[in-house]
Amino acid sequence: MAAVSDAEILSRLERLYLRMRSDPCGRNERMGEIFVPGSGVVEGGRIVFVGEAPGRDEEKAGRPFVGAAGKNLNTMLGLAGLSREEVFITNVIKYRPFTADGGNRTPSSSETKSALPFLIEELEILSPRLVVCLGLCPARALLGTGPVMAEANGKMFRWHGHDLLVTYHPSPLNFNMPSKREAMAGVFERLGRVAGRA
Ligand code: URA
Repeated sequence: MAAVSDAEILSRLERLYLRMRSDPCGRNERMGEIFVPGSGVVEGGRIVFVGEAPGRDEEKAGRPFVGAAGKNLNTMLGLAGLSREEVFITNVIKYRPFTADGGNRTPSSSETKSALPFLIEELEILSPRLVVCLGLCPARALLGTGPVMAEANGKMFRWHGHDLLVTYHPSPLNFNMPSKREAMAGVFERLGRVAGRA
């Protein structure tokens, strides 16, 4: 099969995001109206990080992982010798799920299921060398099973012909818990070795 150019990948992604914006399948009345697409580079050895859903900060910026979890993710990427300028970051759900009082909330499994076909299409376009699932939401969505994080952290799976690595979500809740932070740090250090950095 002929290699797809980076320009073609970008153009396919743009078309997918346009389609998702104009026909917001997967969005419901308990989600914000602002579409937050994936962001990052498609060149080189693509490593794609998949989070859960945008929060208020991401909705405001229109980019994933710019708030507290994003700062923690930057710290972890640093342990791998990687920067955001070298990776692609996206979420399972592209709209902010909110609670009755307007706070951020974890998406339900049915919301995740509705968003899954679009995530699969996005990943097929990106054709990553490695997919890193940040937390159980993307891991369960893609693997279709219920891994327990304490067992799945650092495990490599095969998904649609791609390598898929699972680790904790870099939320402040996990990051501020020494055991989870250390477990996550170990995975990112290993990731750096796999990516030829650390
Ligand atoms: N948490 C996520 O899962 N994604 C974001 O973009 C921000 C926080």
